[in-house]
Amino acid sequence: MPDLHVVVLAAGKGTRMKSALPKVLHHVSGRPLIEYVLRSADALQPSSTTVVIGHAAQHMREALAGRDVSLVLQEPQIGTAHAVVQTEQLLGRKTGTLLLLSGDVPLLRRHTLRQLVSAHDEAGAAATVLTATVERPYGYGRIVRTRTGEIARIVEERDASPAERAIREINSGVYAFDLPPLWEALKSVAAENAQGEYYLPDLIGIYRRRKLPVMTVMVTDPREIRGINSRTELAEVSAIVRQQKNEELMAAGVTLVDPATTYIEPDVVVGPDTVIHPNVYLEGSTVIGSACEIHAGSRIVDSTIGDRVTINNYTIVRSSVVGPGVELGPFAHLRPGADVRAGAHIGNFVELKKTVFGEGSKASHLSYLGDATVGAGVNVGAGTITCNYDGVTKHPTIIEDGAFIGSDSQLVAPVRVGKNAYVAAGSSIVEDVPPGALGIARGRQSNITDWVARKRKSTPVG
Ligand code: UD1
Ligand code: CA
Repeated sequence: MPDLHVVVLAAGKGTRMKSALPKVLHHVSGRPLIEYVLRSADALQPSSTTVVIGHAAQHMREALAGRDVSLVLQEPQIGTAHAVVQTEQLLGRKTGTLLLLSGDVPLLRRHTLRQLVSAHDEAGAAATVLTATVERPYGYGRIVRTRTGEIARIVEERDASPAERAIREINSGVYAFDLPPLWEALKSVAAENAQGEYYLPDLIGIYRRRKLPVMTVMVTDPREIRGINSRTELAEVSAIVRQQKNEELMAAGVTLVDPATTYIEPDVVVGPDTVIHPNVYLEGSTVIGSACEIHAGSRIVDSTIGDRVTINNYTIVRSSVVGPGVELGPFAHLRPGADVRAGAHIGNFVELKKTVFGEGSKASHLSYLGDATVGAGVNVGAGTITCNYDGVTKHPTIIEDGAFIGSDSQLVAPVRVGKNAYVAAGSSIVEDVPPGALGIARGRQSNITDWVARKRKSTPVG
C-alpha cells in the first residue's frame, strides 16, 4: 500500500514476563513474537517499516539484523506515546497513514490490518482504533463511548473507574493515524496517570476534544488481538496458534490422533493421509509427505520426509532428508546432514550424522554412522561404528553397494569397503576392503579343551 508507514512498538521491557530476554523475542510456536508482527506488516507492502527499540536494544538489533526495517531508539522507555514521538525524525515530514502495531500482539491477520487501513483512509479519519469485545477485558485499555455511541476516549485498567472496568470493548493497541496532525498532538499527551507514563491511547481523547474525526474498527474474532504481557498469556497465545495449525492440517486431510498433544509449527507442511500420533513435534521448515505415520514422542526439525515413511516412537530427525518408503526408529537419531534414500531402514538406537544412506539399505540396531556414504542394498550389522574423528579432524567412510558389515565392527576412517565386500563381525577395519573381498581384522579364537573342569578342581564352587 502506497503512503503507508508501519511503526512497531517494541522498546518496553515486558516487566511482567520476569525475563532477561526482551518480551518481543519470546517465542510462540517457534518464532519470536515480533516476527509474527513483521510478517503481517510486510504483507501490506508499506512504504516503510520502523521498529522502536529501547530495552536490551543491542539484543534487538542483532535479532532484527538483515531485515528491511529502520530502527529507532527510545531511551528511557516512558510510555507508548513517547515511543511514537521517537519516529518523528524519520516520518515527521511524511504524508499518508501511519499503521501503529504492538510488538507483543502477534495474531493479527493481514486481512484485518488491510481492513483497518482501508476503513481509515476511506473515512478520512485522523485516527482509527482497532477494538474488540472480549469476555475478560482485564489488563487492556477500555473504549469509553459517548451516549451517541462515538468513541470518547480510552482509559487504562489502572486509571479506570469501577464502571469503566466493566466495559468489555478493549483497545487492541493497533491504530491507523493520519500522519500530518500526529506529531503536534503527541506533544499534548501528559504523563498524568497511575503509571506516570505517556500513554498513546490518550491521543484519542485529545483528538476528540480538538474535533478531529476518530473512528473504530472492531475485529470479528477477538482472539486476533490477544496481547502478551505474561508467561501465562504467552502459553495461551501459543495454544491458539497451535490449534489453528492443527485445524488447518486436519481440514487438508491429515489425521491427528490427539490434537491437544500435537505440536506443529506454523510453517510445517504435511501431506494428506499422514497419521500423527500424540506428543509429536514438527518444527521449523519441516515438510512431511503423504500417507506417512509418525508415532508418539518423535521430533522432526527442519527436515524433508518423503511419502509413505514410517517414523516409529521417540525418533529425532534434524536438518535431514528422508526418502519415500523409509522406516525409522524406534529411538533413531538423524542428526544434521543425514540423507536416507528410498526404502531404507534405520532401526533402534542408530545415529546418523552427515551421512548418505543408500536405497534399500539397512542399519537395524545400535550403530553410529558419521561422515559416511553408504551405497544401495547395504546391510550394516548391529553395533557398527564409523570411527570418523581422530581427535583433530573428521574423516569419511565409504561403503559401496551391496556390502555387508558384520556386527560389532569399527570402520576407522578414512576407509572404503568395496562393492559386495564383507566385513567379518568384530573387525577393526583400518585398511580398504576391495570389492567382493572379506575383510577380517580380529584376534583368532582358540578353544582350550577341558578348561572348566580343571578350573573347578582348583576353585571350589560356593
Ligand atoms: C497497551 C495499551 C492498552 C491496550 C494494550 C493492548 C497503552 C498505554 N496501553 O497496554 O490500551 O489495551 O496495549 O495490547 O499504550 N512500548 C514501548 N515503549 C514504552 C512502553 C511500551 O515501545 O515506553 C511498547 C512495548 O514494548 C509493547 C507495546 O509498546 O510492545 C505495548 O506496551 P505494553 O506495556 O505492553 O502496554 P499494555 O499495558 O499492554
Ligand atoms: Ca501489551
